[in-house]
This record gives sequence, structure tokens and C-alpha cells, in this order.
Amino acid sequence: MKNEEKVRASSRRLLRDKLIAAAAKAREGSVSPYSKFKVGAALLTKSGEIIGGANVESASYGLTCCAERIALFKALTNRKGKNDRQDARLIFIAIAVVARCDGGPMPCGACRQLLAEYAPDAKVFIADSDDLKKVKAFTVRGLLPRAFVLVS
Ligand code: THU
Repeated sequence: MKNEEKVRASSRRLLRDKLIAAAAKAREGSVSPYSKFKVGAALLTKSGEIIGGANVESASYGLTCCAERIALFKALTNRKGKNDRQDARLIFIAIAVVARCDGGPMPCGACRQLLAEYAPDAKVFIADSDDLKKVKAFTVRGLLPRAFVLVS
């Protein structure tokens, strides 16, 4: 590998590790009294911000919201500037998700759909909170090929 490529690869790895660490930190905010399964997520936005979120559960279980969607909704609603959907599209370039389970938590189908609507080519990094150094990498599109789109 050429030196330039090595530098690029190592800065990508640094960013990935930073995002995983942010997801692990965000996980501390989990409100999960029913499942006791804490999940943290962190998005890297196109403007370079890192925005974290964690799962929030309800006594009416079905109302629970996953960490990934909380992080995405935070990023979308924190967005400064124009309010149009065009501006919201491609809002993030990577997301990390962390929980205590072997191999790390794979995003559920509902979250995959939402992530795909906003940033189909974004990277998805997954890790077990007990082993943050072992990171699995996917793309949103790879996790949900042929996502639903509403053609207007
Ligand atoms: N959960 C997430 O936050 N993200 C996922 O990708 C899967 C599941 C949460 C929802 C619920 O609070 C708990 O994990 C158990 O399902």
C-alpha cells in the first residue's frame, strides 16, 4: 500500500473508532427498564458533527424507540438551515451501534428502512460493548437492499 493510502486508511479507522466510542458513551443514556438491553448509536453527519442516541422504552412495549432512530431523529431535528427534505437527505455518512451482545447488535428492520431513506450509502459500524475493538462494517444499502421508496 502506498503511504498516502495508509494515511487515509488509518484516519478512516480513527474516525470509525471515535464513532464507536461515541455510541458506547450514548448508550449510557439508554432508558430500558423492561428489556434491560441498553443500545447506543452515534451518527457522523455530513457537516462533521457526531450525534448520539440511545433506546427509550415504554410500558406499552410497542412504543419503544431504538437507539438508531433516536440518533437519526435528533440529527434531523437539530439540523440548521433550510427545512426542506432535500436538505435532510444524506444527512449522515456513518452510524455506529453498540450493545452488550456477542458480535454487536444488528439494526432492526424498521431502523434499516429509516436509515435507507436518508442515507443509503452510509457506513454502519457495529460492536459489542465488551469488545469495542472488534468492529463489523456494513453499508445501509447492504443491510436493506431495495428499500421502500415513495415516488411522488
Ligand atoms: N433496540 C435498539 O435500540 N436497536 C436495535 O437495533 C434493536 C433493538 C432496542 C429496542 C429495545 O429497547 C431493546 O433494544 C430490546 O429490543
